[in-house]
Amino acid sequence: MTGRDDHGGGRSAVRLIEAKRDGRELDDDEVDWLLDAYTRGLVPDEQMSAFAMAVFFRGMTDRETARWTSAMVASGGRMDFSGLARAGRRVPTVDKHSTGGVGDAVTLVLTPLLATWDVAVPQLSGRGLGHTGGTLDKLEAIAGWRADLDADEMRAALERVGAVICAAGADLAPADRALYALRDVTGTVPSIPLIASSIMSKKIAEGTGSLVLDVKCGSGAFMVDRAGAAELARVMVEIGTAADVRTSALVTAMHTPLGRAVGNALEVAECLEILAGGGPRDMVDLTCALAAEALESVGIGDDPRERLDDGRAMDSYRAMIAAQGGAADAPLPTARETEVVRAPAAGVLRWDALGVGRASWLSGAGRTRPGESVDPAAGVRLERVEGEHVRGGEPVATVHAGDPARLPAALDELSGALAIGGPETARGPAGVVLERHRGW
Ligand code: URA
Repeated sequence: MTGRDDHGGGRSAVRLIEAKRDGRELDDDEVDWLLDAYTRGLVPDEQMSAFAMAVFFRGMTDRETARWTSAMVASGGRMDFSGLARAGRRVPTVDKHSTGGVGDAVTLVLTPLLATWDVAVPQLSGRGLGHTGGTLDKLEAIAGWRADLDADEMRAALERVGAVICAAGADLAPADRALYALRDVTGTVPSIPLIASSIMSKKIAEGTGSLVLDVKCGSGAFMVDRAGAAELARVMVEIGTAADVRTSALVTAMHTPLGRAVGNALEVAECLEILAGGGPRDMVDLTCALAAEALESVGIGDDPRERLDDGRAMDSYRAMIAAQGGAADAPLPTARETEVVRAPAAGVLRWDALGVGRASWLSGAGRTRPGESVDPAAGVRLERVEGEHVRGGEPVATVHAGDPARLPAALDELSGALAIGGPETARGPAGVVLERHRGW
């Protein structure tokens, strides 16, 4: 199909909705036309919603998903980091993306850690919606830190520091921006082709040469079951590889929160512990697994752990934060109200990731609608994590909130996320690598 008809695209869109509803594969021209017409406002939201729902039920072939992704990339500009140099030497670009989990602040450590090698990490991140936090929200808990950099500032930071974490500009895959907002309010987010094309269109447009994906699997993730997560990983690796991005994916466990902190400033504080050579083991292990994968994709075989222990990653973090106006040494915001949750009985503890994420969101750490502000100090700190044996009455978590009215609902949700029983209660730590998919 090419061009529009007399109805400004409406009739053509109906034919494509019907085709997808009936399970037909769209050809390249049809995919290009639909996304272009939607981006230009010729296909209205109600028709795109119906199309997204048809994709939710009928899926897309790999060929359609790849074309859908290219059309979303083509809806905006593409960044170009070819020729990027640090200290006069050309360096490859590497990036990592997580499909989103609870307590997942890995990017804050991984980005500066990778920049201690001769690579550049152009990390374009988002703000959180619902129970999973956004990387930008976490960093905005640091006084003075700025997410909005233009392309020149981004390049300058990459050449000087090797690492930047900032917001994607409005021109980066604008079709995805509009479609994602629509999917969010039409129950069509959890569709493998739509998630894969959404994530990959932004990463391809960002211009990175290599990409490591952390595909989360479990109650705190989009993909609750292993088969769905593995399929999402496979599709994203295929899309990236076809677009000449050296792409690999680790499928990792997200049944229980990663680390001990869930909430913006609480997670930044935990990252500082890791950068100082300590911190929770599950976060450290996952960060190092992703770093090793990213380094291998550009031909570096080193073990990343050493650079967390010897302070090089911390120096790099401080330089990265300062380059974006942040005061790395300023005290982080603290909540006015805290309330301790105690174990109702003795036994082995289990935390459900989704419940803890929701409790943090209810305490004020997350937003309900795009554009809402978040409470940087709110969230949940787990005093005890899954698999630990606790005594009855012992503190197992603390809820932090700026607004005391938020505490009852958060505490209620957190109690529902807690189970205590025999040794079989524990399912192992978060962040464990379940499988790996490589396109190179
Ligand atoms: N993150 C994205 O960017 N897009 C999705 O569809 C889901 C998660």
